[in-house]
This record gives sequence, C-alpha cells and structure tokens, in this order.
Amino acid sequence: MATAGIVLLLTTFLMTEAIAGPRDQARRIHDRLAGVPPSPVVLDTMEDLVAGGQALDAAYLAMENRAFYDVTLKNFAAPWTNREESVFVPLNDYIATVIGMVRDDVPFNTLLSADILYVGDPSLGLPAWSMTNNNHYAAMETQGVNLRDALLQTTQSAMTDLPPGAPAGVMTTRAAAEAFFIAGTNRAMLRFTMMSHICRDLEQVADTSRSPDRIRQDVSRSPGGDSRVFLNNCVSCHAGMDPLSQAFAYYDWDETAGRLVYSPGQVRPKYFLNEDTFPFGFRTPDDRWDNYWREGQNALLGWDMQLPGGGYGAASLGQELGNSLAFAQCQVEKVFRAVCLRPPVDAADRSQVTAMVNSFRSNNFVMRQVFAEAAVFCMGD
Ligand code: HEC
Repeated sequence: MATAGIVLLLTTFLMTEAIAGPRDQARRIHDRLAGVPPSPVVLDTMEDLVAGGQALDAAYLAMENRAFYDVTLKNFAAPWTNREESVFVPLNDYIATVIGMVRDDVPFNTLLSADILYVGDPSLGLPAWSMTNNNHYAAMETQGVNLRDALLQTTQSAMTDLPPGAPAGVMTTRAAAEAFFIAGTNRAMLRFTMMSHICRDLEQVADTSRSPDRIRQDVSRSPGGDSRVFLNNCVSCHAGMDPLSQAFAYYDWDETAGRLVYSPGQVRPKYFLNEDTFPFGFRTPDDRWDNYWREGQNALLGWDMQLPGGGYGAASLGQELGNSLAFAQCQVEKVFRAVCLRPPVDAADRSQVTAMVNSFRSNNFVMRQVFAEAAVFCMGD
C-alpha cells in the first residue's frame, strides 16, 4: 500500500512537471529575463506565443519590461566593472554602455573596441556628465530612472577629451579606468578584461612555450636567485600578457583628478617601474601590441585570422579579443548562467551553448537573441 502511495505521488509529481504548459513556460521566461512576474496581459500574450511555437517572440516581449534593463542587465554587467567582481556597485558608464548596447542590438563583438558611450537623457535633469566623477550615473540609479528609455547612445570622443582612436569600448570607460588602470602596471586591465570577457584568468592561459622577448624590465629573470622559476612560472603569463598589455601604454588613471588620462606618444611612467630589476628586459617604446597567444595552446581561443594579430593601442586589441571564439563563448555562457540560474552541465546544455554561440556569431552578435534563446531553452518542458 505504502509503495502504491509513493508511486501515485511520484506519478502525480512527474505529471505536474510534464504538464508545465505554455502558461507556466511563459511565466518562467518572463521571470528569468525580467526577474519580476508579468502583468496578466503580457502573460496572456506570451502564453499564446509559446503555444503557437513562437517562444522566442515571447522572450522578446519579456525583454520589453524595464526590469530587464534596470535589474537583470545591471546585475549582469556590474561584476565586470570592479576588481572584487561585486554586483553591489552604483550604476556607472561601463554598466550603462553594456545596457545600451544590448538594448540597441549593437554588435557585441565591438564591446572592447567601439567609440561608444551611453549617457542619461538630458531631459531628466541629472548631474552633468563628467570625466571626473560618477554622479551622472549614480543619480540615474538613486532617482529610479527607467534605463530602458533613459539611455542615449553617444561616443566617447564626443563626451571626453580622448582623441578619435583612443576610445576602446568599455575598457576606456571611467569605471574600467578607475578599477583597472589605477596604480600597478596596466596589466590588470588585460587580466580583468580576460576574466570577464574571455572567461579565463591568467592561470588558464599560462603557456611557457612563448618567447619571453617582450617581458618588461620589472620581472626578475631569476626570482629568489633561480632562473628556473622564471622559465617555468613567470614566463607562462608574462610572455603573452606583457606584449598584449603594451596596448595600454598611453592610458592611466589620475587618482587626484579622478579621471582617465591618455598621453599619445608618451608611455606612462608605470611601464618603467622597477626598471632596474632586469635592465636587459623589454623597455616599452610605444603602444604596439602583439598576440603571442595566437600560437601554442591558446590558439584554442579561436582568434580571428582575418585580423592582423598585432597593432597599436587599445581599440585594435579590443577587436582582437572581441572577435575571438572564446569571447563569443564567454558571453553565451554568462547569459546561460544568468538566465538558467546554473552553469551548462550536461551534453544537452553544451550542445545548446554551441548552437547559441553559432547563432550569436552568424547573426551580428545580438545579445538579446542570446538572452531569448537561453530563456526558451530553460523555460521547462
Ligand atoms: C598566473 C599568471 C602570472 C604568473 C605565473 C606571474 N605573474 Fe607577474 N603578474 C601577473 C599579473 C596579472 C600581474 C598584474 C597584477 C595587477 O596589477 O593586478 C602581474 C604583475 C607583475 C609585476 C608588476 C608588479 C605587480 O605586482 O603588479 C611583477 C614585477 C611581476 N608580475 C613579476 C612576476 C614574477 C617575477 C613572476 C614569477 C615568479 C610572475 N610575475 C609570475 C600575472 C602573473
């Protein structure tokens, strides 16, 4: 009898799971994308769309809810903008630019290279936009501004004193500069950009087989008196990282002024810190970068062979990163986690991720499509 009861219970449970019909699926799509329940009217429309085999359209409808922008996308991008990877930071220009690019279907592979910026609508009476503080963005949040409607697209070269060519997508936002150009040696900008947008920290790209010829003077060639440590450890990151982070040679964070500075033709003093550690090391002459990780194990990151693999300045480096397969995979995996509330685990998840990566790359890197596809995949059966 007891067994029969359990079987009955189990059957009922499985049936309830199985009969998650279009209405439940619609509700889940909405919850996952907007984080709030849909209005009855929206739910009805979404249910009809799901029932009619147009679940992607239902997802697009859910993304019209302002909470998709104010909450979901804000929380999605916030951790990329600080070293603690915290979601609890005020709105800033980096986050706003991500939100705007997603809203406007701006090809997301330009995230690290475009001359683009999003600011608040002037009619809102916000504090003036400034290179030296975050008040404009912080006020948007404290005033509960609807980010879906309030963000206007502009360019960094129009809003800042950066000359054309200097802007490099979100890497040259004030928030990124404050977090990653502050002090140090500008290697942090590369490290954190790779963590957030290639989904790999440096341990995961470490490769001792690359030439050490561009490793800067501050890296000891015999740490603790042992050159093997240099060859087996330090080289693995610095051989590839140092020639990439050279792209940022003219950028700095001015702590006193509270702003990004850019000095074309003049390598920042931080590139010569501890130059006496190994005087025969590489001395940065300009902002020439080269990607030593195109060969070796990091060829797996899927670099775009149409691009030259080297150049001058942050924007062309941003193109190199943004057009890699790893960049597209990283965006898709982050969306999958955010929408499905779990990482991809099994074979079905992995093939879904692959399909989404292909769709993302062949359809102009539209992020909303990635969100929609993830929401439909995880809407339940
Ligand atoms: C796993 C990758 C990795 C390895 C291995 C590595 N480094 Fe670094 N190194 C970094 C990163 C990333 C930075 C930039 C840190 C920052 O500014 O946040 C850095 C910065 C530095 C700096 C600049 C000063 C500083 O601390 O920011 C020196 C000097 C340095 N490393 C020396 C070495 C030496 C010597 C070794 C070998 C014993 C070594 N590194 C091994 C990744 C690595």
